[in-house]
Amino acid sequence: MADELPDWFFTRADDRPDPEFYRTPRLVTHIDAGAIEAVGRLYAELGLDGTASSPRRVLDLMSSWVSHLTSRPGELVALGLNRVELEANPLASQIVVQDLNQDPILPFADQSFDGVLCCVSIDYLSRPIEVLREAARVLRPAAPIVITFSNRCFPSKAIRGWLSTDDAGRCAIVVDYLERAGGFSPPEVSRRTAQNGRHHDPLYAVVAYKSGELSERAT
Ligand SMILES: C[S@@+](CC[C@H](N)C(=O)[O-])C[C@H]1O[C@@H](n2cnc3c(N)ncnc32)[C@H](O)[C@@H]1O
Repeated sequence: MADELPDWFFTRADDRPDPEFYRTPRLVTHIDAGAIEAVGRLYAELGLDGTASSPRRVLDLMSSWVSHLTSRPGELVALGLNRVELEANPLASQIVVQDLNQDPILPFADQSFDGVLCCVSIDYLSRPIEVLREAARVLRPAAPIVITFSNRCFPSKAIRGWLSTDDAGRCAIVVDYLERAGGFSPPEVSRRTAQNGRHHDPLYAVVAYKSGELSERAT
């Protein structure tokens, strides 16, 4: 882990406030069916959907009209930027409209979630360490954060650090973010889709579990 990430790393080609870019609802999917299925399967494996032995309270960060859970957890809080998208999310029991690049503080109590999700969106955060530190705060001990991503994005809104590297580099970036945030077990990286050709979206996952005391380490 480098001491500090360079200034350019978090800059973006489109530096208008995010709510402008996300004002128009996009009721679309951002990855293909195989990648979506892989996300849902992972959430189920981690006991975060309705098949878990007891009801789970789950936070979907940077959410939209789909959360990719294949069944409803006990409670799903969907936080994103577009109210129309969030209101169309059939699994959400609560929605929160919040620009995390403007305000990375999560409006939730300490240790109040059994899982935090962030699907195909971590690349848009310009203050990811602060957001992930908050994720650690709101997670219950031993609960997972699940960050998934592919090789597609809105390039004008993704940070330049993300755009400057390849899939392996992006996995390393997410691991580095979690280590800098502190409060998590060593992150586990996996590819969740088979390496079966160019015509399918790859799906990578980085999973870490809430550990003991939060780190005081600065970004
Ligand atoms: C590529 S979409 C992914 C949506 C959803 N997670 C999915 O898996 O389909 C990116 C999402 O990130 C959200 N987003 C982008 N910038 C954000 C920000 N600064 N704060 C909060 N949410 C943001 C947008 O509302 C948008 O729904």
